[in-house]
Formats: sequence, structure tokens, C-alpha cells
Amino acid sequence: MKDYLTLSEASEIIGKSKETLRRWDKEGILNAVREPVSNYRVYRKSDVQNLLGSLFNDVIEDDVSNCVEPENEYSVLELFAGAGGLAIGLEKAGLKCVALNEIDKWACETLRKNRPNWNVLEGDIREFNFSDYKNKVDVVTGGFPCQAFSYAGKKLGLNDARGTLFYEFARVVQEVKPAICIGENVRGLISHEKGKTLNGMISILNEIGYNVAPVQVMKAINYRVPQKRERLILVGVRKDIDIEFEYPKPHRKIYNLADALKKGELYECDVPKSKGANYPDYKKKVLDLVPQKGYWRDLPLDIQKDYMGGSFYLGGGKTGMARRIGWDEPSLTLTCSPAQKQTERCHPDETRPFTVREYARIQTFPDDWQFAGSLAQQYKQIGNAVPVNLAKEVGHSVVKLLNEFYKSSKPR
Ligand SMILES: C[S@@+](CC[C@H](N)C(=O)[O-])C[C@H]1O[C@@H](n2cnc3c(N)ncnc32)[C@H](O)[C@@H]1O
Repeated sequence: MKDYLTLSEASEIIGKSKETLRRWDKEGILNAVREPVSNYRVYRKSDVQNLLGSLFNDVIEDDVSNCVEPENEYSVLELFAGAGGLAIGLEKAGLKCVALNEIDKWACETLRKNRPNWNVLEGDIREFNFSDYKNKVDVVTGGFPCQAFSYAGKKLGLNDARGTLFYEFARVVQEVKPAICIGENVRGLISHEKGKTLNGMISILNEIGYNVAPVQVMKAINYRVPQKRERLILVGVRKDIDIEFEYPKPHRKIYNLADALKKGELYECDVPKSKGANYPDYKKKVLDLVPQKGYWRDLPLDIQKDYMGGSFYLGGGKTGMARRIGWDEPSLTLTCSPAQKQTERCHPDETRPFTVREYARIQTFPDDWQFAGSLAQQYKQIGNAVPVNLAKEVGHSVVKLLNEFYKSSKPR
């Protein structure tokens, strides 16, 4: 069993940069020790776990509120809607969904099942024309999948992006002309093609009449979500509107797995029982050996090598592999398939993945939001979603901007 963590492993587990950890060492917040042979800085695992406990469990008064009441009725057209994580969050912030487009049959079924009055447009976005919504919608949102562009010239124009789903997002924004458009994506978009993809998107939004707010990667744990998920938000404000989009302020209180699954501040009762996936036998035997907050490094060496295969010899902490989440820490990012190798997030007390309802809670879906399709389809929809509480906070920022806009002008 391993009692020490390298600098990169400790930085991954705590979610702070190596520079911060070096500073903490100097300031005595988390002391490193020197590995006798290499003289590298390493951390006692128990010290890291104690620190994590205090980081996530200090009783903190959360005096931050981003809540703003809408002064008018504001409408949203939601593209790439999935199972509705973003849509429910915006609804909770007081915005009204006028239509949602989604290609996946089961995700559409989920949306219809829960909100029979929502106008769900099922099918490939490429097949839809949205000009009927021109000047009738305040916000267009979309979690378009990230794809590379082909660059002919130096500056990317809308036509150069043809064939990508971002093109479709921008095409709809151009057709509808909302006051605000919001793209949602993974952090990796920042470094995709060395930043060219993101810059291309910003220049296209500019070309079609939108100023893009400084791009931010939002950490879900700062927005009442018990999960270390990150989402990149791309906000465009129509150029005739001279108001800056203000991102929601981060909350001070950080929620953990117990807050997600047990009765408490986030939910009024324990998580409801539901179906869930199982690990295959070989994986269960391995994960049985991993303690709470532990991962593959906690296994005996021969099992580590056997289980990790080629990855054992690759660099990096790989702290998400064979991981058992602890009750007093936020969950690691949920993926679209809970038993998938390299990203196991095992239940703290039982050797199994989280059930569907546990998954939904970690993404802050309400308990009564039902998911359609097979178990695998349900996990996929939940794993793909923007956490509802994060979406709600973004919704408050949108409402704030729209209130100011409607006050300062007589739109439409
Ligand atoms: C990241 S998910 C969106 C999640 C959603 N924002 C939420 O919070 O639940 C992206 C969605 O885009 C959908 N999608 C992919 N290609 C599409 C297309 N050509 N037309 C319409 N939807 C598409 C996928 O089925 C998937 O549900």
C-alpha cells in the first residue's frame, strides 16, 4: 500500500495547481517531505486526506447569492438539449423554454416525459430552420460537440465552419438573433488545436454580431454541485446591447458526496432506491481492495500491474482510475458510462458504481426527473448533462443582463 503521493498526484487529488501546493508547503498549510533517493517533494497521503476533509467539510456560512428575479418573461431556445440539465437549471432561474432540439430519441423521450408542454423538436439540427423564432427569443443555448475546423485563411469565417455542429449553433443564432447566446462545452475546448478552435468560434460569433464575454471555465463545486466537474461557457451578447455579462459569483460552501446522497441541505431525503450498473467480477475483486478516497495506487503492486496493463508504465497520476469516492469529498466528474475502465467512481461503502438516481443527484437533477431508455441510455444522458445547479446560477446571470437590457431600452 502506498503512503505517499507525488506532487502531481496530490495536485490532481486536491484540485489545486502544483504552484499552489509549493506555496502551501512554504506556508505550512500542507507540508511536503523529501523522497530520500530522488529528493523529490512527496506528500503523506494521510496529510492530503486530512486537508481534503477540512477543505470540503468546514462549516462555512454561505452568504453568496446570485439570485435575481426576472422582471419580464424571458424565453430560451435550447439546442443540443440532451436530457435537459441546462434547460431545467435555466427554468429554475425563471427563464421559459420555448423549444428544444435534440437528435437522440431517448433524450427527447426524457424531455417529453417530464415536461409534456415543452416543444421538443426531435432530429438532426441540420434539418431544422429556426427563422420563425427570429426576434422572438431572448436566449439561444447549446452544448455543441467540439470538432476541428479546416482553416483556409487566417481568420475563420462562418462559412469555413460548415459541416461542424458549432456552425449549426452559429447559424441558428444568426437566424434567431437572440439578445444572448450561450455555448457550453468541455474545458478541453481551450486547448483544442492549440486554442485555434476556440478562437475561431469567438471570431465567428463576432462576425455574426455578438461580443463574446471573457471565456470562463466554471467549476461546478463552486455552484452548489457535489462534483468536481468543469464546464466552459461561451457567452455572446448582441452588439447593440452595451451591457457586460457578469458570471455568477462562486459560492463559499462546497458540497460533498454525503450532501448529494443523504438528507441535508441539498436534498430533503436520502437518495431514492433505483437500478444501477454492476462491475464485472474481476473489477469488483480489485475495487474491493480500494479504501474510501483511494485509487489504484492503494492496490498491492502485482494487482496494480495486472489491472492497469500498459497504463501502469505511462506517466501521470491517473488518480481517476480504480477510484473509490469518500463521503466527505465531492465526486469526481461522472462519465457517460459508470463501469468504464480508467474512470471508475466506486460507491464509498459498497463495491458498485453509483445507481441512476445517485448519478442524477451528483448532477443535481431533482429526484422526480425521470430518464427514458435502457440503463446505459439513462447513464449517458445524465453523464452528458450540465449540472442543474450550475445551469441555474448561469441562468441568474442571464436574467440580470436581460433585466438591465429591458430597462434601458424598449426592445422589439
Ligand atoms: C453535451 S450533450 C448536451 C447536454 C445538455 N446541455 C444537458 O445539459 O443535459 C450534447 C447533445 O447534443 C446532441 N446532438 C449531437 N449531435 C446532434 C445533432 N446533429 N443534432 C441535434 N442534437 C445533436 C447529443 O445527442 C447530446 O444529447
